[in-house]
Order: sequence, then C-alpha cells, then structure tokens
Amino acid sequence: MAETTSKKTSGSVIGTADDVTGVVLAAMDGAPNARLREIASSFVRHMHAFAREVKLTEQEYSVGVEFLNRIGQATNDHHNEGILFSDAIGFSTLVCLMNNGSGGPTETAAALLGPFWRMHSPSTKDGGSIVRSPTPGPQLFVKGAVKDTAGAPIANVEIDVWQSSPVGLYENQDDKQADMNLRGKFVTDTAGRFSFHTVKPAGYPVPTDGPVGDMLRAQKRHPYRPAHLHFLMHKPKFKTLITQVFVSDDPNLESDVVFGVTRPLVGDFQRHDSGSAPAADVKAPWYTLDQTFVMAAGEAALPVPPIK
Ligand code: BEZ
Ligand code: FE
Repeated sequence: MAETTSKKTSGSVIGTADDVTGVVLAAMDGAPNARLREIASSFVRHMHAFAREVKLTEQEYSVGVEFLNRIGQATNDHHNEGILFSDAIGFSTLVCLMNNGSGGPTETAAALLGPFWRMHSPSTKDGGSIVRSPTPGPQLFVKGAVKDTAGAPIANVEIDVWQSSPVGLYENQDDKQADMNLRGKFVTDTAGRFSFHTVKPAGYPVPTDGPVGDMLRAQKRHPYRPAHLHFLMHKPKFKTLITQVFVSDDPNLESDVVFGVTRPLVGDFQRHDSGSAPAADVKAPWYTLDQTFVMAAGEAALPVPPIK
C-alpha cells in the first residue's frame, strides 16, 4: 500500500506547500531566453510570496481568477480593461516613470499615453485653433517651448496635442463634436516654440462599468482624472516625449484615479478676468498656459495607437 505521509521528494513531485515555489522555478529554468527566465521566475516568486503573505483562501483565489477573466471579457477593439486595471493600481505610471524622464533635472517627466491618442490629427498652423466644432467653455491660449537638456531650443519638433472638452469628453466619445475636434499637430519654429488656441479641458471619469469600476467602488475611490492636455513630441535623434500637463485648479489634482500627476506636470494656468484678450471675440475669463518641455537625445519611436 502506498505511503501517504509527507516524504522528502525530488524532481517535480511535491511534498508540502513549502516545496511548490522551488519546484516551479526549476521547471521554468530551462527557458533559453535569459530575460524571459528572469521575468517569469521573479513573477512566480512574488506571486507565491503574495499568496503566503496574505494566507490566500481558496474562495479568495476564485474571486481573483474571476476578476482576471472579467478583465479579458471586458476588453475589445475599442476598450482595454487590462490597461485600465494596470493604470488604476499605479502599475502603468510606475513602468512609465521607471523608463522615461520623471521630472529630474533633465528631460520633462513622462505621463501615460492613455487610450485616446489617434494618429493623423490635423496639421495646424502656429497659433491656430484646435476647436473644430462649436465647443462652449473658457478659452485657453497655450504657448510652448521645447528645449534640449543643455537648454538650447529644438526646431522642427512635431507635436501632437489632444484633450477632452470642457464637459470632459474626447471627440471620439461625443456625437456633438466634429471628427478631430480638440486635436492638432504643430511643428516648433526656429526658437523651439509653438502655440495654439483651444478651450480649457475638464476632468473625466474612467469607465466604471467593468471589473475596474467594481474595484474602485470596493475601495471607496472616485473614478476621475484631473483635467489635462496630452502632448506627444517627436523628432529624429530625440527620445519621443509623451506627457500631460494638468490644470492646476482641478479638484482631483491630488487624487488622479490613474496616478498620472507628477509635480513638474502641474501647469501654471493663469486666469485673466480683464484686459485685452489674445484673440477677437474672447470674453473673460480666459486662460493662458506657458509651458517648457525638455527632450533628451535618444531614439525617436511612435507608439502603437492603443485602441482601433
Ligand atoms: C487619459 O489620460 O486619456 C487616460 C489615461 C489612463 C486611463 C484613462 C484615460
Ligand atoms: Fe486624457
């Protein structure tokens, strides 16, 4: 009769729970790709340590697997619940800041690309407007300067800008806005400068009808991003800069649901209640923003659009 009491084992036969991690790591150790070996083994070590630390019950394990399955089921060509989950636990921002400028003395801090970037936004002349259909809201005049890490202006940087409307909707979420409303592409002049006219964006909630929404409710968290402008700056021989500039008077500046706000990216938005406006037919109050961006030398690469 086979003996069923615990016995020291070898190979992949497991004696007790204490043996599982080592046995799994040994099984994965033959992967020829060294980076895959490193990542997969670290992932297994941390996952097993997590289960041990919280003494995960089988019922909790099932809830977790169901949560992952629901993330997959909620993902389609137009929505990526997996990225949203990563965003809402700060993992996207962690990876972004580990791999890009994080506001040190050199390049401008990076921020998430987000799901709303579209390629082929309309080329717009310097100083032009990105308001392409009637969009009520406070007028905003943006001036930007792009410099290298030695402080010299960079000419001919292509700058993609996109933002939500004053009611917190991107044009592709809102039937009332024209195609490509509040999106534009600019090129810096010989002084490294660019400018445009727009409306002040509003903050908006991330989608809450899937498992991430359930997580936020369970954690008593609101789903809002503070208002921001997105910038993608591209020029050969410079590391592509993907960032956001946040509206300084937004009530959710200190509680961004996706943890995208870093101190250097809070813009100096100035409110003007009187005086001569920068364009005709502009009523007070209007806002101005003058923002400097620093690009580091490196390899230029455009991202893959996050959704179709
Ligand atoms: C955005 O800024 O567009 C965004 C980023 C992360 C999640 C949702 C939206
Ligand atoms: Fe956004």
